[in-house]
Amino acid sequence: MSEQSSISPEPTAFVFTDDNLKKAQALIDRYPSGRQAGATMPLLDLAQRQAGWVSRAAMDYIAGLLDVPPMRVYEVATFYTMYLLRPVGQHHVQVCTNLPCWLRGSDDVLRACQEVLGISPGETTSDHRFTVAEVECAGACVNAPMVQIGDDYFEDLDHASMKALLEALQRGERPKPGSRTGRQCSCPAGGPTTLKAVPVKGEV
Ligand code: FES
Repeated sequence: MSEQSSISPEPTAFVFTDDNLKKAQALIDRYPSGRQAGATMPLLDLAQRQAGWVSRAAMDYIAGLLDVPPMRVYEVATFYTMYLLRPVGQHHVQVCTNLPCWLRGSDDVLRACQEVLGISPGETTSDHRFTVAEVECAGACVNAPMVQIGDDYFEDLDHASMKALLEALQRGERPKPGSRTGRQCSCPAGGPTTLKAVPVKGEV
């Protein structure tokens, strides 16, 4: 069962916690007087980490802190897809389906999401634990196909490893991020092909 509407209604107010307000002030203080608007992006990120998403009330609050018109904050928040403008589930599963990931099997990754979670991109499970989103390049093409879940990247996926990853999250586990095949960084999928010998000092 899934839902496409917001998980909770749009809040009418937002304030930073005392802790986050201190962090916000420290971020604002990094910018010279009159240039505080430079802190817009980190403040939006802070608000998203506090509430799980960025509401209109949060944007208005940030505009007030920075002493800028609300539109200056709206235009940043609506431009960057990393800012979530509606609530998402506890695990926000962002599946890259851009060309390199698609060529390497992102269709199979999406199919695994549908099979395990019973939802399609843009939907949230009825227990609010998972939201699946289809995204463009996340900058990890060398280890395609990949998904981002929260702050973590999971790479070199296929249908089986994506199913295993989601099932682990369903059990409440915290799977280790990174390559599912053990690939080292952007090393060729079949293993190193160059620079295989350990360099010896003085021989180069
Ligand atoms: S195309 Fe998927 S990370 Fe770049």
